[in-house]
Amino acid sequence: MTVLSGQRRIWLTGASSGIGLALARRLLAQGHRVALSARRREPLERLASGYPDALVVPCDITDHGSVAEAARRIDTAFAGLDLLLHDAGTCEYLDARHFDLALIERVLEVNLHGALKVIDAGLPLLRRARDEHAGRPLLAAVSSAAAYLPLPRAEAYGASKAALSHFLESLRIDLADEAIDVSVIHPGFVETPLTARNDFAMPLRLDADSAVDAILEGLERRDLDVHFPRRFTYLIKLLGSLPPGLRLRLGRRIAGRKRRTQAGA
Ligand SMILES: NC(=O)c1ccc[n+]([C@@H]2O[C@H](COP(=O)([O-])OP(=O)(O)OC[C@H]3O[C@@H](n4cnc5c(N)ncnc54)[C@H](OP(=O)(O)O)[C@@H]3O)[C@@H](O)[C@H]2O)c1
Repeated sequence: MTVLSGQRRIWLTGASSGIGLALARRLLAQGHRVALSARRREPLERLASGYPDALVVPCDITDHGSVAEAARRIDTAFAGLDLLLHDAGTCEYLDARHFDLALIERVLEVNLHGALKVIDAGLPLLRRARDEHAGRPLLAAVSSAAAYLPLPRAEAYGASKAALSHFLESLRIDLADEAIDVSVIHPGFVETPLTARNDFAMPLRLDADSAVDAILEGLERRDLDVHFPRRFTYLIKLLGSLPPGLRLRLGRRIAGRKRRTQAGA
């Protein structure tokens, strides 16, 4: 059964901005029933206007009660989910000279623990759809190409995404017995408000619509690892598979180049 043929019931987090906003526009335009989540209600309501099948369910993914309430409302409206598409996330870079535990915990709280709260709340809805229709629901989440390779200043971000990718890859093995598929999405750089803050070069950066094309193609194939742009992600995967000593030398070179870029900025 294809993932997005016909009208699907989808819970999309991170729908107020960037990649999630572009995904929301596309999925709504395709006629799906989309539950839209993010903390800010106003952009979600603007997005939903004109789409009677859209459901606005704001929630803070760091708050278990808020996520559980969103899932309860979605289940009441949709009676199950064919696709849980978790995109919400954050990025903050560490300056290791000033080890900032609060920053590290914030990033892990959103990108790892937040994702786990969404999965915890959404999985029963995927099971409900499977039981009712004998189809294979899909659980997908946006990680990052940063999960493939340790990069300077990305201690918190990279660790949060690597942990998420590892978790989901294990989950795919176990959920196979339950006829639920899992996809992990690993974007390279995409133009969004999140990357607009970056003060370093972002090779092969894509616009958000091209990212949506790549994500939906990968989900349609039910790929475990949806990654793009391929010229960038294959290189990062290759570098990530180098022996640790070589990865360290590479990381030191990138760190030096970033420092020079910032000094020149
Ligand atoms: N852009 C890239 O180059 C890139 C590359 C690799 C991976 N990614 C990943 O792609 C995802 C989307 O990133 P983006 O670039 O589109 O960023 P973005 O424009 O900043 O969007 C982030 C989204 O996450 C939501 N969000 C953040 N914290 C939340 C929380 N505590 N509870 C609920 N929602 C929350 C935001 O909504 P509210 O502020 O309204 O809550 C917003 O909708 C993230 O997981 C990011 O790590 C991005």
